[in-house]
Amino acid sequence: MERHFEFLPEFSSPFCMATPKQSQVAITLYIHHLPSSRIASHRVTSHRNPHQLVPPTPPPAPQISMLRSLRRGAMRTAAAATATAAAVEATTHLPTEGRSSRFYHDLSDRAALPLARRLLGPEVAHELSVEAARLGWAPRRRPVGGSEWRVRMASSPLGGGGPNFPNPIGLAAGFDKDGVAIRGLMDMGFGSVELGSVTPLPQPGNPKPRLFRLTEDRAVINRYGFNSKGLDAVEENLRAFRRMDGALQIQGESESEGEGESDGGGSAAAAAALEVAGWIWAAAGAALAGGDGDGDGDTPVGVLGVNLGKNKTSDDEVADYCRGIRQLGPYADYLVVNISSPNTPGLRGLQRREPLLRLLGAALSERDALSTVAAGSKHVPLLVKIAPDVTDRELEDIAAVVAEVGVDGVVVSNTSTSRPASLRSEHRGEAGGLSGAPIRDMSTECIRRFYRLTGGNVPIVGVGGVGSGQDAYEKLRAGASLVQLYSMMVYEGPGLVSRVRGELADLMVQNGQKSVEDVVGIDHEDIYWAKREARMKHQTVSERMFVEE
Ligand SMILES: Cc1cc2nc3c(=O)[nH]c(=O)nc-3n(C[C@H](O)[C@H](O)[C@H](O)COP(=O)(O)O)c2cc1C
Repeated sequence: MERHFEFLPEFSSPFCMATPKQSQVAITLYIHHLPSSRIASHRVTSHRNPHQLVPPTPPPAPQISMLRSLRRGAMRTAAAATATAAAVEATTHLPTEGRSSRFYHDLSDRAALPLARRLLGPEVAHELSVEAARLGWAPRRRPVGGSEWRVRMASSPLGGGGPNFPNPIGLAAGFDKDGVAIRGLMDMGFGSVELGSVTPLPQPGNPKPRLFRLTEDRAVINRYGFNSKGLDAVEENLRAFRRMDGALQIQGESESEGEGESDGGGSAAAAAALEVAGWIWAAAGAALAGGDGDGDGDTPVGVLGVNLGKNKTSDDEVADYCRGIRQLGPYADYLVVNISSPNTPGLRGLQRREPLLRLLGAALSERDALSTVAAGSKHVPLLVKIAPDVTDRELEDIAAVVAEVGVDGVVVSNTSTSRPASLRSEHRGEAGGLSGAPIRDMSTECIRRFYRLTGGNVPIVGVGGVGSGQDAYEKLRAGASLVQLYSMMVYEGPGLVSRVRGELADLMVQNGQKSVEDVVGIDHEDIYWAKREARMKHQTVSERMFVEE
């Protein structure tokens, strides 16, 4: 049965059984869901009991309709403003700045990345990100403005003869395990890219799923277990990279040799199609490349680190690491011996005094025998990467061994096996290494302790939970000479690296620091001032000019 229910000026009856609060809520909900045209007169049906009163259409209180129309107006204005700003950005900055433009950065960080997080599993999203960087789709380095020069580095933090880092923010190992996207990653604005860990023989790693997002905690747990294409495949990738950056002048190798590597099995038509695709791609890339104020040549700007691991089934870890140094060392600007992944059984045991001494002694001898592809024979610094979970005693042992054998630096730190009580995500109980925000302070404290133990004499690469310039600044203050990041990109997007550089430069301006070296170790006043005095004494004229520029 249908009853036409005209609007009652005083709608006491329908809601009289309810409390005033309930009535208010009901009216509000009702108004909210009702198109305005139907508020004044509304057809109501009550099939069961014709005598039962059905709630009438409540009155459009003048304030409510005014608020609603204001809200509609504000939303329309905001949408129009956003569309206009996007159109202006897209038509002005995109064509000139390309992938460096704010528009492109926002597009990838605020649209593409959240969408990928929502739609894709973590490992697929990781693979696609590497692929995007390989194809040159990732946002390109955004200049950070007038204070950019402060985050450039006057001298190599890894000692004389070490590589020159354009800036102190690097990409940590584990993102590009096989070195397929080095160029694209350097273009993003990282001062260094550490590929790996690479194992001597190819190995698949642990069964999937093995990567988990802890979104509420801004963290990641991984138990990849050194999935690697192995030394031979990675060497091929590094040869290609070094050919591109112009450093590869291996005796007897020519460009034609590289071209002749194709198996010759493809048809001429397929080759022609590929070539056309290549032109199209190159043209699209050139259109997107834009300027980034950093030379803009074809030569990638950045330092290449190669991180080495061991095979799961190998029972001679020293031989594994030495093989990696021998085979990939010639292509690397620095090498890292990774003995701290929690996902390879027994690996962390190598951090103990005796095995560490044996391993690092052999690794350094192997390194000393290297002659690199770039200059014939340059010094390739060798670093060791440690866990954040080491006890004070273990850290003391590591510091003593590192100083004794003369390792060029320490990467502090890898992922953690700990599970802080603050974790809230449903994946917090997964096995593997924890990274991201929850290990930030743990790793910074580890840096601080290590810096003190070594009197600031062993360069530290600080890594763990860096998601802002402030985080990087704290690691530098605690004693790191360089900083790396990885997990926070999962939440902040690839534009994070440019933001961190910019925020770091701003913090240095605020605190009156002219160079990254001025920040390193400033939390340890006694060591800091002694080192600063020594640095000033030995500063070359060009370094002094660089800082005073
Ligand atoms: C998915 C994933 C894979 C990783 N794989 C490696 C690896 O193969 N070798 C390595 O030395 N570190 C690896 N790491 C550790 C990172 O290099 C870094 O030390 C750690 O994640 C802490 O930094 P973050 O909090 O910025 O991620 C990996 C980290 C993640 C999240």
